[in-house]
Amino acid sequence: MEVPRVSLPMVYSFLISAIFFQFVIAGSSDDLKVGFYSYDRTNSKTYCPSAETTIREAIKEALGNDYGPAASLIRWHFHDCFVRGCEASVLLNKSADIPNPENAAFFNMRGYYLIEAAKTSVENICPGVVSCADILAFAARDAFYLLTGKSDSDLYSVSAGRRDGNISLLTEAGTFLPRPDFDFSQLTNSFADKGFSTDEMITLSGAHSVGQSHCSSFTSRLYPYNPDQIDPSYAQALQMLCPQNAAVNGVVPQDNVTRDTLDAQYYTNVLNNKVLFFSDWALRNTSDLVAKATIQSYTTPLIGNALWKSKFIAAMQKLGKLDVLTGTQGQIRKTCGANN
Ligand code: HEM
Ligand SMILES: *[C@@H]1O[C@H](CO)[C@@H](O)[C@H](O)[C@H]1NC(C)=O
Ligand SMILES: *[C@@H]1O[C@H](CO)[C@@H](O)[C@H](O)[C@H]1NC(C)=O
Ligand SMILES: *[C@@H]1O[C@H](CO)[C@@H](O)[C@H](O)[C@H]1NC(C)=O
Ligand SMILES: *[C@@H]1O[C@H](CO)[C@@H](O)[C@H](O)[C@H]1NC(C)=O
Repeated sequence: MEVPRVSLPMVYSFLISAIFFQFVIAGSSDDLKVGFYSYDRTNSKTYCPSAETTIREAIKEALGNDYGPAASLIRWHFHDCFVRGCEASVLLNKSADIPNPENAAFFNMRGYYLIEAAKTSVENICPGVVSCADILAFAARDAFYLLTGKSDSDLYSVSAGRRDGNISLLTEAGTFLPRPDFDFSQLTNSFADKGFSTDEMITLSGAHSVGQSHCSSFTSRLYPYNPDQIDPSYAQALQMLCPQNAAVNGVVPQDNVTRDTLDAQYYTNVLNNKVLFFSDWALRNTSDLVAKATIQSYTTPLIGNALWKSKFIAAMQKLGKLDVLTGTQGQIRKTCGANN
């Protein structure tokens, strides 16, 4: 039998095509740019210099004087990026080509109207240019800015140039999104799978200092409650708001101390056993020294909040680069809920 021969040119051409495919198949976060939509004025397919301000204004207008629902925008971006990368799969609705989308799961997402408002406003000025994935990244930043108190320094830079995917699978949401019944090692594993350290996982969890939760996400902790895991007076207050076997699935604030302010209060709540989810409490139930030091640093008087904010911004910028589609990959959706 003849032994197959591999020539040197064949090896080279294999290597070259392997490198080439790396570029073509996996989008590179190096292709994302701050100021992407004002970068090349000669390219009408990517030029839309007022995209970011238009999106921010549309979101503000849709919110009116209650910024509370902006919290949902931070959550949308997280859910998007953890499943199939930041390519707006989380927004795709059920259709003939997407029979079981991510959003078919009951994750209690709200605020879809804010994203549609942003998309509509930007389509009006530059049709077919700004991706839904970029809108989610800008919107999460804008929510941070609005909920931390509208200081210019909180308007952190967001790299853009993401393109929208065309696949959305419910099963993947189940695989990659952390659940509120996770313990410390399940949480660290879930974030490590996406390249995030324990420190970054704890830092991102600080988003639970704004927004709300439905009773159904934590009532299993209340009847009966474990006084080692949840402050008894807090548990009793939650029982009033979330009666057992209630017909209505009520909502309660994530952080009852500084409700609509995005800040490091979450970490004090964690240490006081005044957080909603088992996964929140689990951040303190560990002997991991990094975890302990991170939480302690964020609860340090005077400096804790500023430290958390700067690390939260860095972690959000990293989140926004997960498994992106760029260049000619994917599409720019006309409407965020459906493929073109
Ligand atoms: C660490 C693991 C995490 C778990 C288990 C988790 C779970 C949850 C659950 C169960 C809710 C309540 C949904 C409801 O019933 O209405 C929620 C809300 C929320 N989560 Fe998380 N989450 C996690 C991490 C994150 C991260 C990393 C972010 C963003 C950086 C985030 C942002 C939010 C926000 C802003 C809300 C409030 C949403 C609203 O007001 O509509 N979460 N989360
Ligand atoms: C998604 O796009 C790819 C590449 O363009 C295409 O081959 C595939 O059929 C599309 N899938 C769906 C569900 O539209
Ligand atoms: C939230 O705080 C108010 C007082 O500001 C208190 O009356 C209420 O019981 C608290 N709710 C929870 C769930 O702790
Ligand atoms: C709390 O942490 C300890 C030590 O890591 C662990 O043995 C225990 O099972 C944890 N408790 C819960 C309820 O997860
Ligand atoms: C997708 O579903 C959401 C929530 O049900 C709805 O608000 C939105 O209008 C839908 N979008 C499209 C394009 O069908």
